[in-house]
Amino acid sequence: MKRAKPIVALDGPVGVGKSSVAAALAQRLGFVYIDTGAMYRAVAWLAMRQGVDPSNQEATAALAGEARIRFEHQDGRLRVWCNDEDVTEAIRTPEVSAATSPVADNPQVRERLVSLQRELGQDGGVVMEGRDIATVVFPDAELPFYLDADPQVRAERRYRQWLAMGKPVTLEETYTGLMERDRRDRTRPIGALKKAERAIVIDTTGLSLNEVVETLYQRVQAWMQNREECL
Ligand code: DC
Repeated sequence: MKRAKPIVALDGPVGVGKSSVAAALAQRLGFVYIDTGAMYRAVAWLAMRQGVDPSNQEATAALAGEARIRFEHQDGRLRVWCNDEDVTEAIRTPEVSAATSPVADNPQVRERLVSLQRELGQDGGVVMEGRDIATVVFPDAELPFYLDADPQVRAERRYRQWLAMGKPVTLEETYTGLMERDRRDRTRPIGALKKAERAIVIDTTGLSLNEVVETLYQRVQAWMQNREECL
C-alpha cells in the first residue's frame, strides 16, 4: 500500500531518548505521536487497579481485550487515557514500571496491542515509538529508525530525569536497573527489541536532542520530497 505520508518507526533501548525525540519530531512534522510503551503500561496499571496479578496471563489478557486505551494531544503534549481515566502520570510510577514487564511478555496482550497500534498507524503520518515497531507492528514502515547510545550515557540521562522528578536514586542503581530492563527487552520471546534489517541506525551518544530530531527530520523531508517528485 502506498501511503501519502510515511510511518516513522522509532525503536531502541531504554534511556536512548526515544520519547523526547518522537514527540518533538511528530510536532515538527505535524504527525501524530504514538507511544506504544504507554499502552503496555496502561494495561499494567489497569491490572493493578483491578487487583489482577500482572503475571496472570489469562486474566491480564482479558483486561487488555476490554481496555479502552486512547491518546490525546494537548498543547504539544501526549496524554494517555485508559477506560475514561487520564493515566498519563499514574503509568510512570516505579510500581507500574515493574508490573509492565510481565504484561509486555504476555503474547495475548501483545497481539491485542499490536492490532490497536496497526489501526492507529496504518494511514501514515505517524511517529510510532517502541521496541518492535519496525520488526513486528509495521515491517513495511517507510522510515524505520533504530536509536542507540552507549549504556553509561543512557543511564546518566535516565538518572538526571529521575533527579528532576525528585526520585532518590543513585547513578549505580539506575545503571543496574537499565541493564536489567535491556536484558528483558532483548530476550522477550515475542516482540523482543532488535534492529530491523532495513532500519537506519542513529547513535545518539554524542548528540543533543535537537541534533537527533534534526537528523530524522531531514530524512523524513527527503522521503516526502522524493515521493512528490515520483507522482
Ligand atoms: O518505553 P517504555 O519504557 O515506556 O516501555 C514500557 C515497557 O513496555 C517496557 O518494559 C518495554 C515494553 N514495550 C514493549 O515490549 N514493546 C513496545 N512496543 C513498547 C514497549
